Amino acid sequence: MILKGKKGIIFGALDTKSIAWKVAEQAHAEGAEFILTNAPIALRMGAINDLAAKTNSEVVGCDVSLNEDMDKLIDHAVNKYGKLDFVLHSIGMSLNVRKKNPYNDLNYEFMHKTFDISAISFHRLMQTLMKKDAMNEWGSILALTYIAAQRVFPDYNEMAEAKALLESFARSFGYHYGKSKKVRVNTISQSPTMTTAGSGVGGFDAFYAYADKISPLGNASAEDCAKYCISLFSDYTRYVTMQNLFHDGGFSFTGISSEVMDLVGRAGETSK
Ligand SMILES: NC(=O)c1ccc[n+]([C@@H]2O[C@H](COP(=O)([O-])OP(=O)(O)OC[C@H]3O[C@@H](n4cnc5c(N)ncnc54)[C@H](O)[C@@H]3O)[C@@H](O)[C@H]2O)c1
Repeated sequence: MILKGKKGIIFGALDTKSIAWKVAEQAHAEGAEFILTNAPIALRMGAINDLAAKTNSEVVGCDVSLNEDMDKLIDHAVNKYGKLDFVLHSIGMSLNVRKKNPYNDLNYEFMHKTFDISAISFHRLMQTLMKKDAMNEWGSILALTYIAAQRVFPDYNEMAEAKALLESFARSFGYHYGKSKKVRVNTISQSPTMTTAGSGVGGFDAFYAYADKISPLGNASAEDCAKYCISLFSDYTRYVTMQNLFHDGGFSFTGISSEVMDLVGRAGETSK
């Protein structure tokens, strides 16, 4: 029960595969109370109500690209709980990826929307929390990201830049929130994971299999990612802030694995 007595908000549980869904299940098991939120269009799918019933939580709609939705959500959470201890931002969306627009032929209106929903919303969230003095000291704010922010994965498209921006907001806001309120801010860089957002990326199955073969521990599951999130919401990580933390089975620091050497070697033999 390492989150006993802690109150928070979890953004981004769409269905049972969502990373945020697993975080909600585990946060509940560890004694936390929280509001579940998602875009109104996602709420209409209805699955989130099952999660709410299971975790004894309330569902509140919020399109994270709208200031007024964010305001209302934070006001509601503070009225309900008083100050908050943790917030999870588990949100990503790119219309260019959805429409399969190639990286060198992108629609800029879509790109603005991608950056707004996937990255600027993180700043909007933290700025709203700070203005309303909505976080307890030693509170923890987390967002989920992907290593395409540092290295090129061509099919990840403009989401690479969205994630780079997201990670930068975590560092910069982490400084300001740490100084003024002792609130910590981090991003977790997760392995490819079979979810709605994940599978929307072109060539995702190959992506997934490649990462699994490179990583000494294999790909990290959504359940394990949730456990890592819980540890970062807990009091056991109070001095961790402004970090991008890789939760990827060792992928980020591996050059090549014996499995990939074998595969490439065999391909080389047949091409001779
Ligand atoms: N799946 C992966 O391979 C992977 C890997 C690394 C990081 N991530 C990140 O994890 C996070 C969660 O994604 P997931 O894989 O669980 O997929 P998911 O599709 O279950 O979650 C994405 C969520 O974003 C929400 N969303 C989209 N637009 C919104 C808006 N305007 N307002 C509010 N919410 C909105 C969706 O409704 C959905 O719940 C994302 O940031 C994603 O980039 C995913």
